[in-house]
Amino acid sequence: MAAEEKSRILVVGGTGCLGRHVVAESARLGHPTLALVRDTAPSDPAKAHLLKSFQDTGGVTLLKGNLDDNGSVVSAIRLADVVFSTVGVRQIPYQTKLVAAIKEAGNVKRFLPSEFGLDADRSEAVEPTRSMITVTKAAIRRAVEAAGVPYTHVLAGYFFCYGLPGVGQVLAQAPPVDTAVILGDGVARVVFVDEANIAAYTVLAAGDPRAENKTLHIRPPANTLSHNELLALLEGKTGRALERVHVPEDAVLKQIHLAVNESV
Ligand SMILES: NC(=O)c1ccc[n+]([C@@H]2O[C@H](COP(=O)([O-])OP(=O)(O)OC[C@H]3O[C@@H](n4cnc5c(N)ncnc54)[C@H](OP(=O)(O)O)[C@@H]3O)[C@@H](O)[C@H]2O)c1
Repeated sequence: MAAEEKSRILVVGGTGCLGRHVVAESARLGHPTLALVRDTAPSDPAKAHLLKSFQDTGGVTLLKGNLDDNGSVVSAIRLADVVFSTVGVRQIPYQTKLVAAIKEAGNVKRFLPSEFGLDADRSEAVEPTRSMITVTKAAIRRAVEAAGVPYTHVLAGYFFCYGLPGVGQVLAQAPPVDTAVILGDGVARVVFVDEANIAAYTVLAAGDPRAENKTLHIRPPANTLSHNELLALLEGKTGRALERVHVPEDAVLKQIHLAVNESV
């Protein structure tokens, strides 16, 4: 495809865990890429290094902006054909501002809201995930539909960066050494997906007419594993058997309930 046929892609949330891969992949595929960032000259060395890596691709333009500043968002959108939102969990409700800005700008051919998890219209998540994530993502879907903006929802399983450091153990940052804690019986299967692969499919879906007003599910069969299977892979690599401690489902739900009550 000739360079002039490439969509101009705007990424809102491009410095995030997933967004940085989307910016890099968009540039790698030759799309003129715009990254709306709150701070174009951050004092944080890691963030400054990330922004420099974007600019070093030669295909990324940084635009200073903020979802709270409608003018900056509308101006950025007017330079793009496609808008990706990869804002984080806390910013999901504020995407109503982004939808309003897309409607005001009136030039966007495809919007990909910040989804990348469970299907918000079908998930049976318990609180607080239900209120924080699934209800708010579903509300953004309704706002997009009401605005008449062509969309694609990209759903992924469990990001590598969250699911793999602890080899499936929730909140653990390192693999188990002697004992693995398993929530429930460890039989339920989960799809583990590399953020760079999510980014690649997301950028491709944005330009694919078959994905307009559709949901793309990223489910590589070889990455679909139960916690028990994942731990067996680790045992095969290390040659060491792990003791398995199972936490029953009702105890997990009780712990979540207690944590929610303690945080309010
Ligand atoms: N399936 C999974 O395992 C999984 C795991 C995690 C996340 N997710 C989903 O993936 C999506 C992205 O999450 P993430 O964890 O990658 O996000 P993240 O790392 O929290 O990144 C948030 C991004 O939003 C930007 N941002 C924050 N406030 C903003 C504002 N007012 N205006 C403009 N930009 C703003 C941040 O910019 P600054 O650099 O300025 O702060 C940052 O780039 C979410 O929908 C989340 O639910 C899925």
